[in-house]
Amino acid sequence: MAPTTTPLTAIANEKTLRSSFVRDEDERPKVPYNQFSNEIPVISLGGIEEVGGRRVEICKKIVEACEDWGIFQVVDHGVDAKLISEMTRLAREFFALPPEEKLRFDMSGGKKGGFIVSSHLQGEAVQDWREIVTYFSYPIKNRDYSRWPDKPEEWRAVTEEYSEKLMRLACKLLEVLSEAMGLEKEALTKACVDMDQKVVINYYPKCPQPDLTLGLKRHTDPGTITLLLQDQVGGLQATRDNGQTWITVQPVEGAFVVNLGDHGHYLSNGRFKNADHQAVVNSNYSRLSIATFQNPAPEAIVYPLAIRKGEKPVMEDPITFAEMYKRKMSKDLELAKLKKQAK
Ligand code: SIN
Ligand code: FE2
Repeated sequence: MAPTTTPLTAIANEKTLRSSFVRDEDERPKVPYNQFSNEIPVISLGGIEEVGGRRVEICKKIVEACEDWGIFQVVDHGVDAKLISEMTRLAREFFALPPEEKLRFDMSGGKKGGFIVSSHLQGEAVQDWREIVTYFSYPIKNRDYSRWPDKPEEWRAVTEEYSEKLMRLACKLLEVLSEAMGLEKEALTKACVDMDQKVVINYYPKCPQPDLTLGLKRHTDPGTITLLLQDQVGGLQATRDNGQTWITVQPVEGAFVVNLGDHGHYLSNGRFKNADHQAVVNSNYSRLSIATFQNPAPEAIVYPLAIRKGEKPVMEDPITFAEMYKRKMSKDLELAKLKKQAK
């Protein structure tokens, strides 16, 4: 069956899952969406601005989590709870709009920003069970407001404020990681040149046969760091042994899940993990998550900033982030094609 461009909200009530969403057995969920694990540390950022004391303690916890999983959660992060709940409310309202309203922002023809069904990569053998709306928020010159939803009414004001606050939080976290690498505070943000920010809001409708599919297939994020806001349903899963065992991250009200991407991994010469993760769905609840990707500029150079004694660089030569991204995508597409041919 051809992949659908029909919003999932229009087919979520069907009794059986359409074949374009059915994954091979080895890719299907191994752990339920609501069997939560508290292995991923929840770290309070209260006192992070202090010199010494609490700051040292917080940094130690963040570094341990980055070395272990590449993922941690933060609370007391300074982003206003009201802003978070407004952002979540607007996002839910957008996805509840009739299909034709959402499709006014259809980005399936390669447009930059808007609404799309499934998309992880295009041209894949199996579709993800999700709808997304996405926009580019930094650098400010990248804001193409014609691709930002104009409903609900407060969308632009709220998303702009959210973007600004999350940019600030991301920079704070990158300072900690720079210092942990023995570098000046600004080293990681500087390595991003003019830091890019893209927001992807994921909506995973209830699914008729959640055991056969994924909301978002297994991947690592390409950028430096990602801040994910998730609701209380659960569905984000992580693995640190190449997919042999998975854990479902315990949702924590008002927290951000922070995960490192490939860029962060390479800059630390592999010391910090690029978190391997996926999202599963369920038949009881729809789920919302908001991922804010902090990425380097396309021309930024990807190469370890700190190579410790006795270590070899994890990459042969410096390349631009645009090149790194292109190589990652073509490798993924190649694998997807092979899977398609094998079907
Ligand atoms: C993502 O990886 O971008 C989203 C994961 C999630 O929805 O939990
Ligand atoms: Fe991700």
